[in-house]
Amino acid sequence: MKLGVKVKERLGRKFDEEIRFFKGFRSNMKAVGSIVPTSGFTARRMASVIDIQSGLPVLELGPGTGVITKAILQTGLAPDKLVSVEYSESFFEHLISTYPGVNFVHGDAFNLDESLGTLAGTRFDCVISAVPLLNFPMHRRVSLIDSLLDRVPAGRPVIQISYGPLSPVVAMPDRYQISHYDFVVRNIPPAQLWVYRRG
Ligand SMILES: C[S@@+](CC[C@H](N)C(=O)[O-])C[C@H]1O[C@@H](n2cnc3c(N)ncnc32)[C@H](O)[C@@H]1O
Repeated sequence: MKLGVKVKERLGRKFDEEIRFFKGFRSNMKAVGSIVPTSGFTARRMASVIDIQSGLPVLELGPGTGVITKAILQTGLAPDKLVSVEYSESFFEHLISTYPGVNFVHGDAFNLDESLGTLAGTRFDCVISAVPLLNFPMHRRVSLIDSLLDRVPAGRPVIQISYGPLSPVVAMPDRYQISHYDFVVRNIPPAQLWVYRRG
């Protein structure tokens, strides 16, 4: 059976993306945290928390090769309403040429006031994070979630992908609520999606 030209092109692009991701993984295993990119299905599940009607921008953390970025833009969010923070310089260079108009920031999600610069005071609709939290100590994960929730209206979500069976951030009922959003088997490895909110 012959593959159509469009299917071949799509498979070629997906393969290129996986190679790029794997190279990123090899050069910094701790920061990248996964051997293959998130699946398109998982990315769309994460992007589904966006409330376009809010008119607010969205904050993405750890875009990597841009699978989740693409799903976010497919919700209809204008590229200039997306702020996306990536630590790796090579992923950052790839992202700015692939997704024109998005506000990519080359910086550290754990130091957002500095990384976001003039955008540090921005109020976001929600946060979509693929930063590999399990590779960081618990106190840093908790303060990251706290700092993210300070940037969204009360009740709006920070959604985080993770691969362990439990929330990657411990419960702090006086600071935020945790809910399990989904378990996605259409992902390698199967992924857990967690949501953190203030009451
Ligand atoms: C598991 S990969 C996810 C990549 C992509 N979003 C996906 O889902 O396929 C984690 C990404 O987070 C980035 N990252 C790790 N630590 C970071 C940090 N402190 N600040 C911003 N990005 C970070 C890595 O460079 C990598 O792109």
